[in-house]
Amino acid sequence: MKIADEQAVKAAQERYGELVRQQLKRVEDLKNEGDWVDYSRLDRLVIGVCGGDGIGPYICASAQKVLEFLLADKIESGKAEIRAIDGLTIERRAEVLKAIPDDTLAELKKCHVILKGPTTTPKKGDKWPNIESANVAMRKQLDLFANVRPVSVPELGIDWTFFRENTEGSYAMGSDGIDVTADLAMDFCVATAQGTERIVRAGFDFAKKSGRNYVSLVTKANIIKTTDGKFLTVAEKVAKEYPEVKWDDWFIDIMTAKLIDPARRSDFRVFVLPNLYGDIITDEAAQIQGGVGTAGSANIGKKYAMFEAIHGSAPRMVDEGRAQHADPCSMIKAVALMLSHIGEPEKARRLDMALDVCVQFERKLVMTGRDTGSTGDEFAQYVMDTVKRDDLEKVWQEHVDRAKAAVAGR
Ligand code: IPM
Ligand code: MG
Repeated sequence: MKIADEQAVKAAQERYGELVRQQLKRVEDLKNEGDWVDYSRLDRLVIGVCGGDGIGPYICASAQKVLEFLLADKIESGKAEIRAIDGLTIERRAEVLKAIPDDTLAELKKCHVILKGPTTTPKKGDKWPNIESANVAMRKQLDLFANVRPVSVPELGIDWTFFRENTEGSYAMGSDGIDVTADLAMDFCVATAQGTERIVRAGFDFAKKSGRNYVSLVTKANIIKTTDGKFLTVAEKVAKEYPEVKWDDWFIDIMTAKLIDPARRSDFRVFVLPNLYGDIITDEAAQIQGGVGTAGSANIGKKYAMFEAIHGSAPRMVDEGRAQHADPCSMIKAVALMLSHIGEPEKARRLDMALDVCVQFERKLVMTGRDTGSTGDEFAQYVMDTVKRDDLEKVWQEHVDRAKAAVAGR
């Protein structure tokens, strides 16, 4: 081998050694992780709100109004506090060259749960320095290992909940790949026994507690044999503890096809999958529900939880002066997920029903992304007015029944 290549191998080995050491340290931390925080025991629940950048601050502000409206009793009595957290903008992150500025991270860690607007993720060649994604960094720093993404289309019988592993897989060292030489680039994928077990357990627990009782494990273990293989082996072990939960395993490619197979897709309930497959397939699932703008995302850890949209920051809408027309529904959906996580399932259920009525059924206001439609604030007000309706449950049920009959008659 050429001397230059030998040197490149050496440098790569050293870098790889560092990365392995970091991951082994993580495994030790995982072994010592604490138990779940019980929100019902807190005197005061602190909810951090950070708008992010691009359309983030706009849609986040609209969603915050809905949150404040639904939690008014708790905020008034001091049981909950909503706290603005600054500094998660791309300008600030680029200035300090960090995915999350230190002072912002310190503030986030003083909250229990966080509502977060989209943040710009630079890629190679952008006008921004190629810093790590703020989402990914927050998931790692606050150890938000379960990315829970529900998708529901009642008239099609679709009731899916995705449990995407959120701190490992191809994302764990996504910014730490090695350019070995000008011709050879290598990335890495990580699966730990502890990290895999907790996400699989979260999926099975949910399947059992919610009565859905069916889990589909999705990997590409026939090709990505080591890490996906581990995912599958751990799942086989954990599944034995849940005899009442039926489970099967699928490869990601065929599962991507099955989600658009009308004969099959309404059978699925709970999915558990590694990070990258979960990222990709949840966009597909959201599209079936009406687009990524309709889907919310819960990032759950034992100590912290963060709720966000599943889409990006759409800087173009800001450049074109249309940001106030950006659709806040994904962020309002995130509010519903937060409510259910902090022990307000009934409020969450009403908000979900109101969103269905406003977005899919009644559509008295429509968002078009420009001034031909309503603004995000107007839409949020429409959703709140709908939550208040005495006949909400009845109206929602009638619409669902009608939509189901229409699908059946097609
Ligand atoms: C998501 C997003 C993020 C991800 C990006 C913005 C880093 O696509 O939440 O699905 O890849 O996880
Ligand atoms: Mg995504």
